[in-house]
Amino acid sequence: MPSIEDMRRNLQDLAALPADRSFGLPGHFYTDPTFFDWECATVLRDGWHCLGRVDEVPEPGDYFTVQLLNEPLLVVRGDDREIRVLANLCLHRGMPLAEGRGNVKRFVCSYHAWSYARDGALLRAPRMENAGFDAAACRLHGFPVQVWRGFIYASLNPVAAPFGTEAQALDNLLAPYETETFRLVHHAQEVWRTNWKCLVENFMEGYHLSVVHPQTLHGYTPTGLAKKSASGPGFTSYHANYPVDIPSRGNGAPGLSDAERQRSTLFARFPAQVASQAASLMVSLMIFPRSVNEIQVKWTMSVYGDDLDADTVAQRIALWDEVNREDREKLERMQVSLGSHHARSGPLAGDDYEGTIRDFLLWLAHDDMTRDHGVSAA
Ligand code: FES
Ligand SMILES: [Fe+2]
Repeated sequence: MPSIEDMRRNLQDLAALPADRSFGLPGHFYTDPTFFDWECATVLRDGWHCLGRVDEVPEPGDYFTVQLLNEPLLVVRGDDREIRVLANLCLHRGMPLAEGRGNVKRFVCSYHAWSYARDGALLRAPRMENAGFDAAACRLHGFPVQVWRGFIYASLNPVAAPFGTEAQALDNLLAPYETETFRLVHHAQEVWRTNWKCLVENFMEGYHLSVVHPQTLHGYTPTGLAKKSASGPGFTSYHANYPVDIPSRGNGAPGLSDAERQRSTLFARFPAQVASQAASLMVSLMIFPRSVNEIQVKWTMSVYGDDLDADTVAQRIALWDEVNREDREKLERMQVSLGSHHARSGPLAGDDYEGTIRDFLLWLAHDDMTRDHGVSAA
C-alpha cells in the first residue's frame, strides 16, 4: 500500500488535471484502512454532518440517536425549543443514555439511574454522597450545531467554522423550493458494505441513471438530460431534468419556475450528505462511515404541503427503496473489486455526467492542502 503522504500527493496531482481530462480516485482510496483513519482524523472529524430533519424532533423532549464515527450522539429538542446535539453517554461509567428515538422528560441512565435534563445538565445521581463529587461538573458534552433549510448539522470539531457565505449558491438553488417547509413522511436506516465516498459519488453523478435504474428512474430522469449545476467550496449539484412529455409530479412552492418543476436538483453538502430536491418531494441521504468498507445510511423523505396524497407517498417510498437497493447492489460489488491491485484511477465522463465527482475530489484535495498550511477547513 502507498503511504498516506504518497496518497495525499496523488490526490493533489489528480486535482491538478484539467476538467476535460479528469480522473477519479484509485481503488485504495476506498479500501485502505489507514487512509480511512486519516480521513476520520481530518476531513470527517472537522466536517459538518447532516444528522436529520428538524421535524424529527418537533416537541421539547423529542430525541433521536445517531452514531457519527466513534461518537454516539443524542439529538434532542430542549425546553427552550433549541435543538442540541449531546454526547450520548453517561458521565458516571459511560453507558449510552438513549437508543432509537422517542420523547422523554429526562434521560435516566439504565445502569445506576443518574438522570439528566433535556439540555444535558445532571439532575440527580442517587447515593453519590462522597464529598469530592461535583454534580455541577457533570453535564453532557454538547457539539456544535447548525440548522439550514430544515436540516440539522453537527460537527465533532468543537471550533468548526459555521457555514459561511461560500455556499450561497447552494442556498440560492434551494430557496425557491422552500426546502425548510418540507414535511417528513419517512425515515429509514440501513448498513451498506461500501466506502462512504462511493455513495457520495454514486448519488451525485447522472451517468449511471439510465443503466442502473432502467425501470425506476430512467423514465423521469434519463442520463441524457443530466446537466451540471452550481458548485463551490463544500458542495456540488446537478439537474436531473425530466422529459417534456411526462406528467407533472406536483406543483410545489408558488415561486418555482416551470424549469424547476420539470427537474430534480441533486446536491451534495460535503463530506457526507447527498439529496434530491424536486418540487413536491425531497429525499436526503445521510452517510455515517463505520469503517473503510461500511456505512450506515439514514435516509429521509419529505414532501411539500399536501401536494401528494397518502397513496402517492407510499409509492414514492417504495420507489426510493428500490432505487437505493439498485445502487447498493452495485456499490457492494464494486467495493470488493476496488481492493484489486489493478483498481487504478479511471477517466471520468464529461461535466454534465461526472463533473460532480471531480468537484468532490477537488474539495477533498483543497481540504487536505489547507490543512497542510495550518488553516482549518470548514
Ligand atoms: S453508568 Fe450511568 S449511572 Fe452509572
Ligand atoms: Fe443511483
